[in-house]
Amino acid sequence: MLVVALCNQKGGVGKTTTALNLARAAHLRGVATLIGDLDPQANTTTTLLGHAPDADGTETVADVLSARSDAVLGDVITGTGWEHVDVLPSGGDTLADVGAELVTMGPGREHRLREAFAAHQALDGARRYGLVLLDCPPALDLLTVNALTAADRVVIVTTAALFSSDGIARLLSTLAAVHRYSNPDLDVAGVIVNSFERTRRQRHWFAELLERAPAPVWQPPVPKATWIAEAVEAGTGLDEWNTPAAAALADTYDGYLSHILEGTRPR
Ligand SMILES: Nc1ncnc2c1ncn2[C@@H]1O[C@H](COP(=O)(O)OP(=O)(O)O)[C@@H](O)[C@H]1O
Ligand SMILES: [Mg+2]
Repeated sequence: MLVVALCNQKGGVGKTTTALNLARAAHLRGVATLIGDLDPQANTTTTLLGHAPDADGTETVADVLSARSDAVLGDVITGTGWEHVDVLPSGGDTLADVGAELVTMGPGREHRLREAFAAHQALDGARRYGLVLLDCPPALDLLTVNALTAADRVVIVTTAALFSSDGIARLLSTLAAVHRYSNPDLDVAGVIVNSFERTRRQRHWFAELLERAPAPVWQPPVPKATWIAEAVEAGTGLDEWNTPAAAALADTYDGYLSHILEGTRPR
């Protein structure tokens, strides 16, 4: 089981879009995949299940993380319309509450998700996953720290405009702290640039990223295009979108998945 966190403290950069398209690529390859939605905004869950996470009163990742519940992963994981892909649903507002609960929880609070995965792995008959994708919230909070502590690898999702030295510095200092205090094996696998436009300005930022990013910047970047958002909203894969551009982008995500699974580091 390879656990990969998709991370950036900025909202709207494309973490959820990336998580869903990587899960789709894994579905097409037949890799047993779990997509964990750690964002209280629950966009991944809503897209894959077609309804808000706790609308039907079922337990969610919030219950797994909370000390007030005995729920384990197996109680919470749900199948999706994509064969081989299951979802660990976000708890919406409940997950935001549990994020606050973690702040006062004391020792071990960074390890809640990691321990939940370890307990799941130790169970006889539990569903086994080749890949776990963790869609992080737009904050460097304890939900993100739980994802980073549970992860083998982190993929930074960004836009080519954002990488001011501030943004990267803050993210890197969190990654360094997690590396030091709660997950010494955490590996920064790569950087995915989303919503790329071939303007002068974006090409400038992209070039700077290539030089300064803490990990390989995977090529090509994901273009900015309305149909990408539309495909996610419709809950369909790019492979089902039936245009040459969408098919090419599906191949790009498949290439990113290769980098993730094989750990190759092309510049
Ligand atoms: N490459 C893209 N081109 C056009 N729209 C995009 C692209 N990537 C994401 N979006 C849209 O931008 C918004 C934010 O993306 P999202 O993946 O939810 O970001 P995050 O999870 O980082 O907050 C969503 O409405 C999404 O559909
Ligand atoms: Mg998101």
